[in-house]
Amino acid sequence: MTPQQVNLVQQSFAKVAPISEQAAVLFYGRLFEVAPSVRAMFPDDMTEQRKKLMATLAVVVGGLGNLDSILPAASALATRHVSYGARPEHYPVVGGALLWTLEKGLGDAWTPDVSEAWIAAYGTLSGYMIEEAYGRAQAAE
Ligand code: HEM
Repeated sequence: MTPQQVNLVQQSFAKVAPISEQAAVLFYGRLFEVAPSVRAMFPDDMTEQRKKLMATLAVVVGGLGNLDSILPAASALATRHVSYGARPEHYPVVGGALLWTLEKGLGDAWTPDVSEAWIAAYGTLSGYMIEEAYGRAQAAE
């Protein structure tokens, strides 16, 4: 990611922060629509899950300019996800739902540059998490 892309991701996430609860509702709604099979992996009551997701995203987004500061937490998160039943092939599906949510949430502020910056950010994070949890071969697929 370029420093400019880091800025774009941070600035656009700041716009979603005030509506983070709604954004999380949109996100899981979209995820369970495109991948109904993952619904059963999550708790029935998603209230806490929505908060945890947005809090973690805030930490990750805040740390993009200094990746070393977030990689240990991202690695631990990835390892926990193995026990939740997450598979490497789920990561692009989650990424798609995230981009869709940001597009909805940002409206006109969702420009091609912002989109590219988020694709780069999610690619960096998910590639690293997959590598940590499942090994290099899977991350390259
Ligand atoms: C970069 C991508 C992702 C982020 C930032 C993320 C974030 C989180 C966070 C913060 C939690 C709360 C529990 C914890 O901290 O361990 C969580 C739980 C969970 N995540 Fe993810 N996640 C990601 C990708 C995925 C993927 C690809 C799947 C696959 C379907 C998934 C499935 C789950 C499930 C099932 C739980 C709930 C476990 C439970 O409470 O029993 N996540 N995620």
